[in-house]
Amino acid sequence: MKFIEKICKMAQADKKTIVLPEGEEERTIKASEIIKNDSIAEVILLGDKTVINSKAKELGVSLSGIEIVDPKTSEKTDVYAKAFYELRKHKGMTLEKAAETLQDPLYFGTMMVKMEGADGLVSGAVHTTGDLLRPGMQIIKTAPGIKVVSSFFIMELPTSEYGEDGLLLFADCAVNPNPNAEELASIAISTAENAKALCKFEPKVAMLSFSTMGSAKHESVDKVSKATEIAKNARPDLQIDGELQLDAAIVASVAKQKAPSSNVAGKANVLVFPDLQSGNIGYKLVQRFAGAAAIGPVCQGFAKPINDLSRGCSVQDIVNVVAVTAVQAQIQK
Ligand code: ACO
Repeated sequence: MKFIEKICKMAQADKKTIVLPEGEEERTIKASEIIKNDSIAEVILLGDKTVINSKAKELGVSLSGIEIVDPKTSEKTDVYAKAFYELRKHKGMTLEKAAETLQDPLYFGTMMVKMEGADGLVSGAVHTTGDLLRPGMQIIKTAPGIKVVSSFFIMELPTSEYGEDGLLLFADCAVNPNPNAEELASIAISTAENAKALCKFEPKVAMLSFSTMGSAKHESVDKVSKATEIAKNARPDLQIDGELQLDAAIVASVAKQKAPSSNVAGKANVLVFPDLQSGNIGYKLVQRFAGAAAIGPVCQGFAKPINDLSRGCSVQDIVNVVAVTAVQAQIQK
């Protein structure tokens, strides 16, 4: 069974409610019907009811059993605006500006999650990653004990040679442009936790670099080795090691030569990249050249689950990300 099929089954076992702020968007409308029919989650679409219903009719989609909420007319808008104002007044937010901001479905949907009107949110078929993350960071904020919001991709390789039978987590490939050592350590710990909770395997975390265990000297290498030390000290129960080159992290024969005493080298199943340039390029290389399925970016570190889509996403991608978000909501319950 493919990984995403397992996730859909987990989502079906304890149904959560996911809000989709891009409710007027065609792929989102089509996906909501599949999510409802396959019992993956309850769906709330945000947007103008007349527009959504007429698009659904054109597309031959039934929205029966799917709630539609219009932020412009909802009776919740006032309550959410007041709560948003309270959260942001120390940043100069006014009640008037809060009410105006809540007309934006992304802010309205994020407040809906905050105020427990939904268990999670998925967006990004139209909006950019930053458009999604900003309200999340302002309203939902990080979970207790987590320094930064970050992200990971679940990479499913066509063969089982590397990682956990061909499954690996890559982080952070979508959020933090240049994390410092503390932030990188936090990303490593969050991703290890997700390997256990979401992917159900014991994480072996490699902190990647162009150097293996001091073979090269550079301030960017120092950052990775410092992050490794911080993560190891914070969580001695986790298998985290570095700094490691990619080949030393995943190839047993190279690990034997370059990092013989490491308990992670040669068998890593979680790869933590030193920055967003390498992470974003890295996952796309594996996706395109190796034909790996790349599920994500899955956001991690938020107090409640919020996830992004690529603007090039398919209807099935939306269904898949909703399933992942629903399972994250089960885990964070
Ligand atoms: N974790 C937690 N909180 C954060 C983080 C973080 N990683 N980054 C910023 N914040 C908080 C800030 O503290 C601030 O909070 P406050 O307003 O309460 O003080 C708030 O978020 C806004 O911070 P800014 O620094 O003003 O936010 P910025 O405009 O820099 O945006 C963002 C942050 C959106 C994450 C930015 O770093 C970004 O755009 N990252 C890259 C996203 C991207 O383009 N990814 C690549 C494409 S995705 C793909 O290819 C799959």
